Amino acid sequence: MEIIAVYSSKGGVGKTAASVNLAYACSRRGKKTLLCDMDPQGAASYYFRISADKKYSKKKFLKGKLQKHICETAFPSLDLLPAHFSFRNLDLDLDRDGSEELKNIFGKLENSYDYLILDCPPNMTLLSKNIIIAADQVVSPVTPSTLSILALAQLVKFFDKIKADKKKHRAFFSMVERRKKMHQDTIQRFQKKKIFFKTSVPYLAEVEKMGITRQPVAATWSGSPAAEAYDKLWMEIWKYRSRK
Ligand SMILES: Nc1ncnc2c1ncn2[C@@H]1O[C@H](COP(=O)(O)OP(=O)(O)OP(=O)(O)O)[C@@H](O)[C@H]1O
Ligand SMILES: [Mg+2]
Repeated sequence: MEIIAVYSSKGGVGKTAASVNLAYACSRRGKKTLLCDMDPQGAASYYFRISADKKYSKKKFLKGKLQKHICETAFPSLDLLPAHFSFRNLDLDLDRDGSEELKNIFGKLENSYDYLILDCPPNMTLLSKNIIIAADQVVSPVTPSTLSILALAQLVKFFDKIKADKKKHRAFFSMVERRKKMHQDTIQRFQKKKIFFKTSVPYLAEVEKMGITRQPVAATWSGSPAAEAYDKLWMEIWKYRSRK
């Protein structure tokens, strides 16, 4: 099982939109896929019209009792482990002296899925460290703006600080508006850096409308530019992993 964490310390950059659509793209290729909603806001769960059952909580999660709480989505080969509001304090319960707790928890799913995609909350904490250690690939959406680039640079330093393998960290430009000169300039300046995938995800109304349709864009508008962008991005992620 490959673990792909969609993670950035910055909020509102398109992590949830990407994890939902990438998980869908992955499952459409026949891979058994689990999307795990790590964010107590539960946006990924919302997009699939799923909420955690009453018996699920941070305690169950930390004990690794995941199987019982995994839900089928409306789509073949795609399951979801919903978020729970108690996840807002997940950090406080993680082992201060280690960073492999999450890796061990997800290890219990090793034989059940081909891919585990994590929709991560925006912060840089012990949970983030656990996520980075657990993941085979960390994919960071970056909006083409100064602060988003700064957040990426901080994250690269964080990888150094926790001695994580920087080769597994990749980024892509998210919510790109080609009409904006600043977006054009930022992309031109940074896209050639090795960390960036070639595919970027444009700012498109279809993605915003997922809040209404409550399903991946490709399930509503197959072949739309948004669906194609996420599919192309998935292929890059998949190929990068296969190359390692
Ligand atoms: N490519 C896109 N085009 C248009 N709107 C987008 C796109 N990607 C995301 N959005 C919209 O931007 C908002 C933030 O996106 P999203 O929730 O995916 O970000 P996030 O990084 O997960 O945020 P948070 O840090 O709060 O979890 C949402 O309203 C979403 O619909
Ligand atoms: Mg989110």
